[in-house]
Amino acid sequence: MLTNITDSTTAAFLALEEKYGAHNYHPLPVVLDRGEGVFLWDVEGKRYYDFLSGYSAVNQGHCHPAIVAALIEQAQKLTLTSRAFHNNLLGEYAKFITEYFGYDKVLPMNTGVEAAETAVKLARRWGYVNKGIPENKAVILFAENNFWGRTLAAISSSSDPLSYKNFGPYMPGFELVAYNDIASLEKKLQNPDVAAFMVEPIQGEAGVVVPDEGYLARVKELCSECNVLLIADEIQTGLCRTGKMLACDHEDVRPDILVLGKALSGGVLPVSAVLADDEIMLNIKPGEHGSTYGGNPLACKVAMAALTVLKQEHMAQNAEAMGALLRSGITNLQSPFIKLVRGKGLLNAIVIEHHNKEASWELCMELMQNGLLAKPTHGDKIRFAPPLTITAGQVEECVQIISQSLKVLA
Ligand SMILES: Cc1ncc(COP(=O)(O)O)c(C=O)c1O
Repeated sequence: MLTNITDSTTAAFLALEEKYGAHNYHPLPVVLDRGEGVFLWDVEGKRYYDFLSGYSAVNQGHCHPAIVAALIEQAQKLTLTSRAFHNNLLGEYAKFITEYFGYDKVLPMNTGVEAAETAVKLARRWGYVNKGIPENKAVILFAENNFWGRTLAAISSSSDPLSYKNFGPYMPGFELVAYNDIASLEKKLQNPDVAAFMVEPIQGEAGVVVPDEGYLARVKELCSECNVLLIADEIQTGLCRTGKMLACDHEDVRPDILVLGKALSGGVLPVSAVLADDEIMLNIKPGEHGSTYGGNPLACKVAMAALTVLKQEHMAQNAEAMGALLRSGITNLQSPFIKLVRGKGLLNAIVIEHHNKEASWELCMELMQNGLLAKPTHGDKIRFAPPLTITAGQVEECVQIISQSLKVLA
């Protein structure tokens, strides 16, 4: 019997998804059908502030008109050729994005995890060809509590049992080092077979963990001294989210390999990219890596629009200013249930202090009731990362919603 999909109540949507979709997520019970700027609307017409921004994919705001216009225009012309042939936009996009970030070459992919894995492949190849690491001995270092996706390679570097348990065997040649711990990294770098260290400038999924000032700059120095590539995973931190174009810019660090995704399309379709100089990138020859959708003309057009909008609308500056306003607003609430407010720009989290282990979830449910959508991560942390177009008046309204909602924990 066919399910009644014309029933538009929230409960019916939830039941449909529960019955026919895999149970690999635990979403808040809200069903959204429209977005504009910092706002989302549910199927019953209620409006919410979006404080997750599609895990920082929607930096430019929902359905940004310039990005959607680029999408529609290109979708009516040409969407996919595969890389078996050239398309008229890949070259233009490659010039645009390499000049934008200051690298020789770009390798286009789709999702974040694919781009991060591409970076790891590039680093291994560079390790063998340029550094002279013996065959199959290359080591890639990752920080503890990293997150770069869900493929077998990504979970092989994970320190979270929820990610890796019962999915083995795991990828060899990956080693972990404590995050924000220069001494441990120095020790690991003694191994001459280390090809690269891949790191998030701020650990997003771990709960917006901001390392000490100077950490990234020192990491870069050490990597350079040891002839090890620094791969910056800026998939979540990049593209104005933290108040600079890249989070690495806070410490004037230029990674050897830069990995971007998420907001590279403003949340419109999966677009990711790996940027590096020729010495690294040209080690990969025709037939050695690729993706059917990578570099498709639709993605190229959308990414150029998404990057243009970031600069045109001064989103880095706004993220910096609104982030400061948000953090000080929340701090001034002096709530006994907020142990910590941390973050940079508009990538922020609060750490909840409460005897009830479900407190963060309950607070997010109350925030939802009061018109603000946020999601707990790792139990006691809630990320506050609205689109970068948010205004001062809206931040103030959101602080009021948070203040009101905290009462549920009393
Ligand atoms: C830092 C970081 N890297 C990589 C990824 C994976 O991106 P995707 O989900 O697009 O594969 C994520 C996703 O949250 C991320 O936060």
